[in-house]
Amino acid sequence: MELTTARLFLRPFRADDHAELHAIAGDPEVVRWMDWGPNTPEETGVFLGYALASEAETPRRAWKFAVIRRTDATLIGSAELHIESPEHHRGAMGYLIAPAAQGHGYATEAAQAVLDFGLTEGGLHRITATCDPENVGSNRVLEKIGMSREGHLRDHFLIRGEWRDRLLYARLAQLR
Ligand SMILES: CC(C)(COP(=O)(O)OP(=O)(O)OC[C@H]1O[C@@H](n2cnc3c(N)ncnc32)[C@H](O)[C@@H]1OP(=O)(O)O)[C@@H](O)C(=O)NCCC(=O)NCCS
Repeated sequence: MELTTARLFLRPFRADDHAELHAIAGDPEVVRWMDWGPNTPEETGVFLGYALASEAETPRRAWKFAVIRRTDATLIGSAELHIESPEHHRGAMGYLIAPAAQGHGYATEAAQAVLDFGLTEGGLHRITATCDPENVGSNRVLEKIGMSREGHLRDHFLIRGEWRDRLLYARLAQLR
């Protein structure tokens, strides 16, 4: 499964993505708001293993996409969608973009593609995303792609020894 946008390809990860992916996932600044990382090379390898395994699942429970800039074929980030509940047609999404590629609208473009895919071919009725209240860029991305803020989750994560709140965003297949 590959998604194409104006400036990006979102394609399945490959084993040889390790070096480019690890340069991003091992960067403390990138994972500042995440409940994982910064990754060791081994942890990035484990993630890639999950990503490759998810390709073979039937039915699919997750799509993990390498975000590729079309002009130079560089891996600039990742985006993912996983199904939280098949019964309730509910999923959750996330994304990250390498510091060198931030500020160009790529996260918005990738996140929009994943959201649209999930609500159409993915067969989902509801897709959620959460982000740290201080992660201004990610809050903006979620608003720009038409997700609605539904709640403020207090002390949702214990991130590197600090309790962090999370803002909950969601979008339904039928807008209301
Ligand atoms: C958050 C992140 C995904 C934004 O990626 P990006 O490609 O720079 O985002 P975009 O260029 O699509 O920007 C979307 C909007 O957010 C704004 N924005 C982006 N980063 C911002 C920042 N650090 N501070 C303030 N605004 C910011 C942009 O100006 C734009 O708004 P505008 O169109 O009104 O000007 C990226 O910084 C990142 O991957 N960070 C680390 C991982 C992460 O936090 N992932 C999300 C977890 S919930």
